[in-house]
Amino acid sequence: TIKACLFDLDGVLVDTAIYHFKAWRQLAQSLGIDFTEHDNERLKGVSRVRSLEIILEIGGQTLPQEQMLALCEQKNTEYLVDVSKMTPEEILPGVEDFLKALKAEGIKIALGSASKNAQLILERTNLLPYFDAIIDGRHVVNGKPHPEVFLKGAEALGVKPEECVVFEDAVAGVESAKNAGMLCVGVGQPEVLTQTDIVVKDMTEMTVERLHALQQKA
Ligand code: BG6
Ligand code: MG
Repeated sequence: TIKACLFDLDGVLVDTAIYHFKAWRQLAQSLGIDFTEHDNERLKGVSRVRSLEIILEIGGQTLPQEQMLALCEQKNTEYLVDVSKMTPEEILPGVEDFLKALKAEGIKIALGSASKNAQLILERTNLLPYFDAIIDGRHVVNGKPHPEVFLKGAEALGVKPEECVVFEDAVAGVESAKNAGMLCVGVGQPEVLTQTDIVVKDMTEMTVERLHALQQKA
């Protein structure tokens, strides 16, 4: 039986992608790199420093480690200007209803995010009280697609991987869930999220019935 749901944050519970993009584009511009919205897809689900590596790759540049860390700091300061103004209105459609339904059913809820800002975002949007465990960028050594973030989530909840369903909008995140041996609901486009068990447009399409039906399918 399914005992827990593990949620990615950015792009699943809240739409912070636009703030990440704004901050990265500004930084890319300062390096003379043209960074487009299309390129931005590659940054979804991956860590902050990996994001910068991808941008430098696009621009055909390399920088010493120390300078890269300074640029990551700079990007995050810019990003936090927007995040610190976030409100519960920025929770994506259907999210709160689904979290409430899970709670009512006694299904455990964890966060599995690459972000080091996850706690702050959950606080700003009043989502924090729903979570039984939070595993984020501060708790993992290996980023997605490595399964560490979701395996640690299951462990914190005291459930087995096969009792977990992961919700993900990024290809790297879906791979991470599958590497962990978990069921996975893709949030977004089926053409992009091909390794998932089902794909939904957003959380308005999710119900507890659909969640349990996943296991019969698997
Ligand atoms: C993920 C985002 O959730 O978090 C990535 O999809 C981001 O785009 C990553 O790079 C790390 O986030 P942060 O907040 O620690 O810079
Ligand atoms: Mg995401």
